[in-house]
Amino acid sequence: MSSATALAHPNIALIKYWGKRDEGANLPAVGSLSVTLDALRTRTTVSFEADLARDELVLNGETAAAEQTRLARCLDALRQLAGSREFARVHSDNDFPTGAGLASSASGYAALTVAGAMALGLDPADARLEAVARIGSGSAPRSLYGGFVLLENTASGTRCKPLLAPAEWPLNVVVAVTTEAGKATSSRDGMVDSERTSPYYAPWVETHPADLARARTLLAARDFDGLADLAEHNCLKMHAVMLTTQPPLLYWLPVTLACMQVITELRRQGVPVFYTIDAGPQVKAVCLPEAADAVAEALGAVPGVLRLITGQLGEGARIVDADA
Ligand code: PMV
Repeated sequence: MSSATALAHPNIALIKYWGKRDEGANLPAVGSLSVTLDALRTRTTVSFEADLARDELVLNGETAAAEQTRLARCLDALRQLAGSREFARVHSDNDFPTGAGLASSASGYAALTVAGAMALGLDPADARLEAVARIGSGSAPRSLYGGFVLLENTASGTRCKPLLAPAEWPLNVVVAVTTEAGKATSSRDGMVDSERTSPYYAPWVETHPADLARARTLLAARDFDGLADLAEHNCLKMHAVMLTTQPPLLYWLPVTLACMQVITELRRQGVPVFYTIDAGPQVKAVCLPEAADAVAEALGAVPGVLRLITGQLGEGARIVDADA
């Protein structure tokens, strides 16, 4: 038996990915730019065992049959790279709500990929692991890296570039948890519906490269206000596509909107903070460190906010234990 354990953090995109250019290969229609979050984490142990008849996953203490196909496809890709035929037992735990718009699939598949690679004797820093993680989730390759991460389309796939380490622009993120429940429509299914049915999908894809290029310029200049305007705009464009999908993808709750309004008001008063929201009702407030307390106080007072998770930018996926 050979086994390894990895930690990985979710990431949130400031410039979002929504839509696929190749569904089978899970290739995104657009690039994206994310930050990795240190306050949330997935811990995953992968053990390859000669006597297993199939891959097995225990997620947060329960057998997760629904994930079986994706899991096996990721592990197949690793087995192919390593020339192995052994199946694996996978134990994965999240210290935050799973499948609820907090990017648990990103941290989950990043941790799985790195732990599985290590257990098979592959280099956990091998760039080919990005394509393996992407089988699990389009945003998972970004969680292989820490800080600010760019995911770009290339001719045949995608490539990640870590742009700034956490210490190079130490932003804080306050997550307002508004529900612990899972979402009704996964990102994976939702974005395919958007491409088929939203009249705003084509303009979303067309205007996206300019957002990504501008975000890189603003990041290089550490221009918080510029990035705040752009990230909120890009987030709202994505939600405009979601809302105009048929059937509609309305991921927000009333409390989501209340948090957005509070953050807008804080910024009007000069507090350096902006919001971003993914395929779920949780609100992520990104701020300069000196604003974190004021942001947490304001969001904590919004009726319907269940709890806050406050943290900094995190490291990429990494091995914490190996027994190969
Ligand atoms: O990686 P997926 O399939 O969970 O899709 C992620 C989609 C968003 O979170 C809404 C945007 C993004 O870029 O993370």
